[in-house]
Amino acid sequence: MIPPAALAPGVKIAPSILSADFARLGEEVRAIEDAGADWVHVDVMDGHFVPNLTFGPLVVRAIRPFVRTLMDVHLMIAPADPYLAAFAEAGADLITVHAEASPHLDRSLAAIRDLGCLAGVSLTPSTPPEAVEYVLDRVDLILVMTVNPGFGGQSFLASQLPKLRKLRGWIGDRPIRLQVDGGVAPKTAPLCVEAGADVLVAGSAVFAGGPAAYAGNIAALRPA
Ligand code: DX5
Ligand code: ZN
Repeated sequence: MIPPAALAPGVKIAPSILSADFARLGEEVRAIEDAGADWVHVDVMDGHFVPNLTFGPLVVRAIRPFVRTLMDVHLMIAPADPYLAAFAEAGADLITVHAEASPHLDRSLAAIRDLGCLAGVSLTPSTPPEAVEYVLDRVDLILVMTVNPGFGGQSFLASQLPKLRKLRGWIGDRPIRLQVDGGVAPKTAPLCVEAGADVLVAGSAVFAGGPAAYAGNIAALRPA
């Protein structure tokens, strides 16, 4: 069950556990939620769609009991379709696939909703917003990558701000969240919100300094 607060209007902060201490993942999830995180963002990488490897459904299942907010699973894997059910069964609340990784994006998004999850679609920096134009009725979230996916700690790509603005216009009154991921920090977060983003993913900016710094780091990302 997704708590209503996680879906309430307003800007949500979604720390990416890619920057957490992997030896203490459960405690790290607890710590970021205690520090004010609205969602928990889980980056799944396959060493094929992106040049890095992280974890799969077993780890998602292992941290599920620690998540009291919304578990946001960002799949950077190709193909994604064969694994959707495994991530849903592992406890994902929202599953995001990449438009570039899913040749039949409409079908992938329908499959995610059929599994009882919210459905997200992600665009890498070189993918135009038109990639989602004809699936707007199938998505609960659009993720605009502001780095090339694969690693935490990269520099924010300001080239993506016009894409955010265009998508915010297309979303209009639809119940679709607009998420931004990559290089989000206190300096870049306001640019994203001004361009229309309402879910901010941040890895290195949240986890820097260890647990004692998490609350301050999260607060520094919220709009004034
Ligand atoms: C990148 C991942 C991001 C990453 C963000 O491929 O999708 O979620 O963890 O890390 P930072 O905030 O450090 O750029
Ligand atoms: Zn991500």
